[in-house]
Amino acid sequence: MEILRYVFLVFHLFGFAAILGGIFYQLRGKDPVAGGYVVTSAVVQLVTGVGLIWTRHALDLPVSDPKMGVKLALDVLVAAVALVGMRNRKPWPFFTVAVLTAAEVVVAVVW
Ligand code: HEM
Repeated sequence: MEILRYVFLVFHLFGFAAILGGIFYQLRGKDPVAGGYVVTSAVVQLVTGVGLIWTRHALDLPVSDPKMGVKLALDVLVAAVALVGMRNRKPWPFFTVAVLTAAEVVVAVVW
């Protein structure tokens, strides 16, 4: 179970890296867009996040329900804004996804 928790955590960090990597890469370009890579990564974050909650419960490790609620809400918002960005291809969804993802990391680390 411990190994499974590490597997979920590694893929959770891959998903996080995929969102921020796409954002930093596009910051140098002219028309940054929040596209399918963000939606896919948000789903990865949801699946691995649920896996982390499950394995932490199984290992009797603490899980804060309010923190998980906020993380889930931010993740759904990230996916929803990215879907809008895929349709209108405007810069504002891109920057909103960047801010929401940064907020998600602050919640993950500080709370
Ligand atoms: C954009 C979405 C997300 C990002 C960027 C993100 C980021 C992170 C990061 C960086 C960590 C490591 C924190 C540490 O070990 O100190 C983490 C841990 C964790 N995340 Fe996420 N996360 C996201 C979404 C979610 C979702 C949707 C859930 C579940 C509903 C979730 C559940 C967890 C759990 C259970 C842990 C490990 C234990 C804890 O920090 O309490 N995450 N997340």
